[in-house]
Amino acid sequence: MSERVIPLVDQRLQSLAATVPSTPIAATGLLGDALGRPLRDLRISVTDRCNFRCSYCMPKEVFDKDYPYLPHSALLSFEEITRVARQFVAHGVQKIRLTGGEPLLRKHIEILIEQLAALRTVEGQPLDITLTTNGSLLERKAVALKAAGLRRVTVSLDGLDDTVFRAMNDVDFPVADVLRGIAAAQAAGLGPIKVNMVVKRGTNDHEILPMARHFKGTGIVLRFIEYMDVGATNGWRMDEVMPSAEVVKRIHAELPLVQLDPAAPGETAERWGYADGTGEIGVISSVTQAFCRDCNRARLSTEGKLYLCLFATQGHDLKPLVRGQASDEQLASAIAQIWQGRDDRYSELRASLPPDASTGGRRVEMSYIGG
Ligand code: GTP
Ligand code: 5AD
Ligand code: SF4
Ligand code: SF4
Repeated sequence: MSERVIPLVDQRLQSLAATVPSTPIAATGLLGDALGRPLRDLRISVTDRCNFRCSYCMPKEVFDKDYPYLPHSALLSFEEITRVARQFVAHGVQKIRLTGGEPLLRKHIEILIEQLAALRTVEGQPLDITLTTNGSLLERKAVALKAAGLRRVTVSLDGLDDTVFRAMNDVDFPVADVLRGIAAAQAAGLGPIKVNMVVKRGTNDHEILPMARHFKGTGIVLRFIEYMDVGATNGWRMDEVMPSAEVVKRIHAELPLVQLDPAAPGETAERWGYADGTGEIGVISSVTQAFCRDCNRARLSTEGKLYLCLFATQGHDLKPLVRGQASDEQLASAIAQIWQGRDDRYSELRASLPPDASTGGRRVEMSYIGG
């Protein structure tokens, strides 16, 4: 029996080639995957780099100066991204989120936003264009982003205490600069602004209440995210996950909450309103209460690979089609074929998977495909 040789390669490079189906699949806006889920939300990563080193995402030991980031030639150009996005929109996408790494590190991102803002949904409506940022460059860029057609922003912020925040971003970045970025985004009209806080038990769970108090009554929606086993480098442990139920209980004890109805189908966050009417918070419980059933999200990597799940091990490489001879119709058909075959529901299956099974140790990094 011959021995199987598994080559040691950068896992990001493993992907399936996207192919054009022999019978075209018309873009009607009604595409469904193998579990009947529509395609509504496209997340586009515009860089795999970040100026922070949050340990749950880009731990310093792995993402050091020798890390093989993508060379500029591998990135899709803005024109290429817009062309791909146009096909997604024809299939029913209504929301586009720009992510990274840190998307504001991509030079001239306003130009891409302008191009995306010109697209129209199947119903002829403008897209909901948003961006997830660590806020470090927001003060400088908020006005230009708004002028380019960005509708709103979501800012990642894991605590208000400067010492805790500097330790979590691991590059000693001061919290005051992020708060100024949030204020600038609010002043520029990039709302409703959301603030995402990843809660790690023992690291920043004591910041839950200060964060809730700080953003209550500001119009900013604070959302608490369960620390996930995404990627392969963050050393995830279940005992560091704080279930959302516990987060809600802690806040409710001090600031009474009432549960609100979902705003849209397939939403990540469960919404809770302050009983005194001063706004709402959200909890994102991808570990303790999976929300795969209505998952309508696709992810496009910086180099043009389509990932169908945050926990995917492989992407579908669209770049050869984008850079080759494929027509828009062929590109749209290839995307449709991939979505129609999709049956991912990792978070739902997580509980029944043995540790390190199937995807263990090989998942794509969140800094590469974006949150
Ligand atoms: P809004 O349109 O502003 O409500 O955004 P969103 O909640 O769809 O997106 P956002 O990127 O802000 O999501 C917040 C966090 O939820 C992410 O940073 C991830 O941690 C997590 N998340 C988002 N999408 C998924 C998903 O499809 N699966 C899982 N497991 N987690 C997700
Ligand atoms: N668990 C949960 N959320 C994560 N993010 C990155 N890594 C993780 C993780 N391990 C999300 C955070 C951050 C965004 C950029 O990605 O929400 O705000
Ligand atoms: Fe950068 Fe966001 Fe990842 Fe932190 S979570 S390292 S800010 S991409
Ligand atoms: Fe969607 Fe995968 Fe997240 Fe489930 S785990 S909600 S299928 S991205």
